[in-house]
Amino acid sequence: MSASYEVRDGVAVITMNNPPVNGLGLATRQGIAAGIEQAQADAAVKAVVITGAGKAFSGGADIREFGSPKAVAEPNLLSLISLVENCTKPVVAAIHSVCMGGGLELALGCHYRVAAPGTNVALPEVKLGLVPGAGGTQRLPRAIGVEPALNMIVSGEPVKSELLAQIPGQTLFQKIVDGDVVEGAIAYAKEIADARPLPRVRDAKARHPNPDAYFQFARNTVKAMAKNFPAPAKCVDCVEQAVKAKFEAGMVYEREVFMALMLTPECKALRHAFFAERAASKIPDVPEDTPVREIKKVAVIGAGTMGGGISMNFLNAGIPVTILEMKQEAIDRGIGVIKKNYEAQVKKGKLKADKYEQRMSLLSTTLNYADLKDADLIIEAVFEELSVKEKVFRALDEVAKPGAILASNTSTLDVNKIAAFTKRPQDVVGMHFFSPANVMKLLEVVRGEKTAKDVLATVMGIAKKIKKTAVVSGVCDGFIGNRMIEQYSRQAGFLLEEGATPQQVDRAIEKFGFAMGPFRMGDLAGNDIGWAIRKRRYVEKPSLRYSKTADLLCEMGRFGQKTGAGWYDYQPGKRDAIPSDVVVKMIEDHRKELGITPRKIDDEEIVHRLVYSLVNEACHILEEGIASKASDIDMVYLTGYGFPLWRGGPMCYAETQGLFNVVQAMKRFAKNPLDDAKFWEPAPLLARLVAEGKNFS
Ligand code: NAI
Repeated sequence: MSASYEVRDGVAVITMNNPPVNGLGLATRQGIAAGIEQAQADAAVKAVVITGAGKAFSGGADIREFGSPKAVAEPNLLSLISLVENCTKPVVAAIHSVCMGGGLELALGCHYRVAAPGTNVALPEVKLGLVPGAGGTQRLPRAIGVEPALNMIVSGEPVKSELLAQIPGQTLFQKIVDGDVVEGAIAYAKEIADARPLPRVRDAKARHPNPDAYFQFARNTVKAMAKNFPAPAKCVDCVEQAVKAKFEAGMVYEREVFMALMLTPECKALRHAFFAERAASKIPDVPEDTPVREIKKVAVIGAGTMGGGISMNFLNAGIPVTILEMKQEAIDRGIGVIKKNYEAQVKKGKLKADKYEQRMSLLSTTLNYADLKDADLIIEAVFEELSVKEKVFRALDEVAKPGAILASNTSTLDVNKIAAFTKRPQDVVGMHFFSPANVMKLLEVVRGEKTAKDVLATVMGIAKKIKKTAVVSGVCDGFIGNRMIEQYSRQAGFLLEEGATPQQVDRAIEKFGFAMGPFRMGDLAGNDIGWAIRKRRYVEKPSLRYSKTADLLCEMGRFGQKTGAGWYDYQPGKRDAIPSDVVVKMIEDHRKELGITPRKIDDEEIVHRLVYSLVNEACHILEEGIASKASDIDMVYLTGYGFPLWRGGPMCYAETQGLFNVVQAMKRFAKNPLDDAKFWEPAPLLARLVAEGKNFS
């Protein structure tokens, strides 16, 4: 049992002990229940204190038991809370550090609560697409008032204990104690040991002066802010029950809503993303206890678009950065951009002026490789040309200290070749950031043939420090994300040839939930980038057919927003995409040249061809071992490519649709003479899973 029991001075102290955050797994629940029974039975015990060992009171449900029978085995959380609430001796929660989800619901079932200042208090269930399921929506409004409670439940965000204690009339915390919170709780328990009746949060009333108007208002706000997620609106409904229904009826309502949400695809997607993020940091053949190298100083080569953004990540994390460039002008330009970015944040009130100064003071620049001799991690972000990278890596090999990690931000080049420019290929790794590098969450960590395990472990650790979601990719053209997006772009091009307009394609995929369709995205990133890549790639692979419309667009000089015209027209200084007659005519002429009679293409076909092209390529990537699990692919698309979170990523979406149905659709697409029948042959892995009736997970 993961809870200990001792009696101190007539007060039984039950201490949850389930590291790291005292998750309320079965053994912990059993431990608490046994403690309550023992305290009830012992005449010498006058009161009970429940607390948590280590770094938390309790972080809530034990995520390791999610979905297993243990999660709901008796005593489940509801029965445990009821046992505590009905204890005939006063139960005091001694709360510190973290009190979240089920942990807060348990505390609300106690008769009294004493908290340490600085405790993070939250009901974060909404972030997993759920409502609190053990009375949180019914008890919290009774303890702190309807509006603060609904704010906490709908946002899922933590609030500090001392702030909650300031709410007039609140009964959440009877005391905030500095110093030892368990001692404070024992002292308090002795004070109130004989007071009867025992106060129960459930017996209080949750009141609001204008409940109908308030809940209508809340519902409208939530709907506008979270239109693709059902849980936030359900939080409003549950809290409304706390005001309008009897406690027991409210509890039944909450339970029903919880169970129904559990089955929604949105909840499934959010839980999938939650676990996928944790899984991404684990590399199958790199043990978790692999020693890591210390990263105290970072150097970045190149102060361009990527070098500047990459540097900001480390400065933000308090790690000193030295940027190396070829010329002083390039340094000045790069530093200017970094400053402008920070100053914009200061202006918006997102960054304090002294923090800005502090970050800039960690930044130094040089034109001289010798100045990089102390760097623990060196990230190269120079022009995308192998010969340029070669010069840089040979120079780094000369000056970098032994054990320094040498990383390349290349997006298309072979990391093994880059590693071979040095005498220490084991220290070379790809760190593929996404633009803007100081904003985008995704980091593809590219594992070369010879990359050492401790280098990987170190880079995964540093990624966490700079708040990136790191996913490991093997070496191949485009790595995971861009290799998949190439197929998606090819499909987008074919759709134009067959009869769609850029606007129709963008609208369909944006309605599906992508932040931006492929053509608006091209205009934002610059259509010339893809043009340059195609010139190289399709010379190497002449058999790979693609639509020439994008090349024709570039030949017209329509590179996108930066030239004021791309797939769409743009008005000076504005980013609104205006459908372009010139582009529509160009596409029509191109069709005529190919002898294609346009047809009407519905949104479903557009979405499925785009998304299933990602899925099929991803299956090849998995089969080749470039990615180690399907959930990694979902993480890449959720954090780097604007795939809608409520759909959980392309692989999760494919599972929701049913892999059998996905393959059927691919077979249909293969029959289209204007598409690429070869590409639509289901990848062997996908075919195998369908034949065996299995899923990616
Ligand atoms: P950029 O052209 O904005 O910046 C490159 C910088 O490197 C320039 O300031 C240049 O003066 C400097 N440079 C060139 N050769 C150098 C050398 N030998 N020594 C020192 N500095 C040198 O290019 P960008 O966009 O920042 O790309 C850099 C790298 O990042 C490329 O490998 C690119 O493929 C990769 N990348 C780019 C992304 C993007 O969206 N722009 C996304 C992900 C990766």
